[in-house]
Amino acid sequence: MRGRIFHIGQLRPPLIILATLLLGACLQQTYHPPHAPAAPRHGMVVAGHPAAADIGVQIMQAGGNAFDAAVAVQFALAVAYPGAGNLGGGGFAVLHTDTGATAALDFRETAPAKSHRDMYLDSAGAVIPRASLDGALAVGVPGSVDGMARLHDRYGKLPWSRLLQPAIDLARNGVELTAREAHKYNRYREAFLTLNTTPPPLVRFDRPWQAGDTLKQPELARALESIRKLGRNGFYRGELADRLAAGIRRAGGLVSEQDLQNYRAVWRQPVNGSYRGYQIHSMPPPSSGGVALLQLLQAVEPYPIADWGSHDTRTIHLLTEIERRVYADRAAYLGDPDQVDVPVKKLLDPDYLKQRMADISPDAKTDSDDIGPGQLPPAESLETTHFSIADSAGNAIAVTTTLNSTFGSKLMVPGTGFFLNNEMDDFSSKPGVPNQFGLVGSEANAIAPGKRMLSSMTPTIVEKEGKPFLVLGSPGGSTIITSVLQVILNIIDHRMPLQEAVNAKRVHHQWLPDRILAESGALSPETELTLKALGHVIVTRKSIGQVNAIEIAPDGTLSGAADVQRGDNQSAGF
Ligand code: GLY
Repeated sequence: MRGRIFHIGQLRPPLIILATLLLGACLQQTYHPPHAPAAPRHGMVVAGHPAAADIGVQIMQAGGNAFDAAVAVQFALAVAYPGAGNLGGGGFAVLHTDTGATAALDFRETAPAKSHRDMYLDSAGAVIPRASLDGALAVGVPGSVDGMARLHDRYGKLPWSRLLQPAIDLARNGVELTAREAHKYNRYREAFLTLNTTPPPLVRFDRPWQAGDTLKQPELARALESIRKLGRNGFYRGELADRLAAGIRRAGGLVSEQDLQNYRAVWRQPVNGSYRGYQIHSMPPPSSGGVALLQLLQAVEPYPIADWGSHDTRTIHLLTEIERRVYADRAAYLGDPDQVDVPVKKLLDPDYLKQRMADISPDAKTDSDDIGPGQLPPAESLETTHFSIADSAGNAIAVTTTLNSTFGSKLMVPGTGFFLNNEMDDFSSKPGVPNQFGLVGSEANAIAPGKRMLSSMTPTIVEKEGKPFLVLGSPGGSTIITSVLQVILNIIDHRMPLQEAVNAKRVHHQWLPDRILAESGALSPETELTLKALGHVIVTRKSIGQVNAIEIAPDGTLSGAADVQRGDNQSAGF
């Protein structure tokens, strides 16, 4: 089955030549060097783990469509990439069908029925440190399993059990650890032990994990078997649900059997806009991603950034000033549209945006005297994961899924085999107090029973003349939106090939804290000096986002670009 899969971008050039000769001869497997155009036409998957990307391709090779592959990849990521792939979390998908229709699937977690607005405040009204981040109280009602069931009900071709089986096999037979995964499990060992009474299988007692070790997860295999047999009810009702709710309750959390039974993923209309003649379809609220992306693109459009260059001082200054205003709107106005009135139309109104951006000066940053200091987000808290899939029939899907922080709440109820999210931290615990991403919120994103917490996830499909052209998205908390933005600008304005557009260094601003985050090497010394002279504060970060993207050529050729420099992401196509 692996013989016809193309793997792109994992090997360095000298090794690629050798690997191509040896592996090509032995396994009839073709490897493409990074940046080289791939030629697959039948199907393409770009995902956060090589095993998951392979499984997606295998499903399409077996006659499944892109949506079948998405279901299989979501479950495979729960096994192979447990820091972000999940059964115990949630996510969003934006899709385009072979009939030309678009849709958005919201499988975001919800606040438990017993949650309340001030649940993370002490008696003095101060936010209790890490209460919305670690352990059972941080857990929202998981949405991923219901989301996948709904996706399959509406668009799937292959039987549900066929889509679950590869993940079950991976959990039972074991997944080989990459160096990154091994390092991460060792790094989180203490947290796993502190936050669980029974150590999760990711804790090893004899020695630290090493690359190449095999991780077997029999309890997770059993949970997946329950879902294979009973569909969504295998997760939200019966033995697994009872065990889950009882374990969360014992650990001091609020998610109950009733919350699990009541959970429903929701089909929504994508938010739509245009940019330089391309049509953009992205995730509506309760994600802020689509609205913010469309605001950003509309605000950039009048400027000749193609002439300026992608990392020129003028471009970085402009993006910073636009992002400052868009993220301030995010904090004030966005939340769950089923519970608060989100003024999407007004936020995307061209006149509003023109007036909103009118005071941007090319010569100075906006006066920040009235902006309070924010907390810089810790680097380990950025692990969501994104996968993009396209098939030869014209179906395409962008899925971003998450536990929120790496391994979420780090709580694994004994006997279940999977980590639970800490998505409750994406609510605004108290107006003006930053969450782990340094984002502040308002009443629109206050906690309420059954409400969905605001997100930044931005699964997006860009169309050219009515046909999917780009399928993309990213992890990275608050930096998701600007990562997706920059890849779109790199392709449309700066004419970069797909892999170069993904690899290019990124910068980010989010209103608060009032700092430009820049990947090391993103800004030349001259640009950095000029930006500082304009009043900007610059903070360097090793890595921003991990964009996994597909480009579809007019003749149907599929190119995949995995963000291999920033994670274990991989393209696979056939
Ligand atoms: N948990 C990250 C997000 O949804 O934006």
